[in-house]
Amino acid sequence: MLNKLQQKWNVSSVQLLLILCTFAVTGSSTAVISRYITSWVGFDEQTFWLWKLLLRIFMLVFGYQVILMIVAFFFGQFPFFWNYEKKILRRMGVIKPGKAKLAIFASGKGSNAEKIIQFLENHNNIHVSLIVSNKPTAGVLDIASRFNIPTLLIDRKKFMESDEYVQIIKNQGITHIILAGFLLKVPDNLIQAYTNKIVNIHPALLPAYGGKGMYGEHVHQAVIQAGEKESGITIHLVDEEYDHGKTLFQAKVEVFPNDTPDTLAEKVHRLEHEHYPKVIEKWVSRTS
Ligand code: GRF
Repeated sequence: MLNKLQQKWNVSSVQLLLILCTFAVTGSSTAVISRYITSWVGFDEQTFWLWKLLLRIFMLVFGYQVILMIVAFFFGQFPFFWNYEKKILRRMGVIKPGKAKLAIFASGKGSNAEKIIQFLENHNNIHVSLIVSNKPTAGVLDIASRFNIPTLLIDRKKFMESDEYVQIIKNQGITHIILAGFLLKVPDNLIQAYTNKIVNIHPALLPAYGGKGMYGEHVHQAVIQAGEKESGITIHLVDEEYDHGKTLFQAKVEVFPNDTPDTLAEKVHRLEHEHYPKVIEKWVSRTS
């Protein structure tokens, strides 16, 4: 149960503990404060029941949320709970989703990047604003120039060992990062700057066939060698471990006895193109 929550919220065990403490302290504080307010406004047994009910509803709907944010602040969990509050307010239609600026990171030909760009081309709230690559010859850079999207060519060493690119990406106002065939491990400083705001697509059904060295053809080869009857795609949040963050979406394809890594790759690619743009749109809208 606790593990499930940790996965759902994509937080460490210490943060989960602090979040649960926040909820517990908020619950008891709200009860105490409600009692205090009840006596302060002079309500007693004779007071008309409707007034008491209205006060209780007011405390549950508004008071609780305010107390939650104050307690969250003291437990160092304000950002987590502020996102949670924004989600509720967005669902209630009180606040509109903010404009999201996406950076797509890719090292290869960029067929997924292209599908995402096309899908979001005329979107009101989501804009693909930057293409990041570590390979000067990557096809994704041609796609970026065809669609007039600025690019950032990164140096591996600087990317892994300094804050330089984190600052550049932040300064450009990027809100979400999309990995689409990006072959470098995302460094911890970037993950911390974009907690729960980086998504990846993996060409297999994680947790199987994931981890270091499991990319592209290697994945399909391993799936076929193991005689699997099905494979697929996993779209997941990115955390400090390879192919590990919370799964947002999975879809399956059948693996036939005569499939080769190439034919399987083709089927998986089709699945990626069909789903990745839509899942991104949903996830970004929910988290903006
Ligand atoms: C995809 O298969 C994706 O699952 C993996 O890298 C590949 C990228 O392909 N992470 P493309 O460059 O988008 O064509």
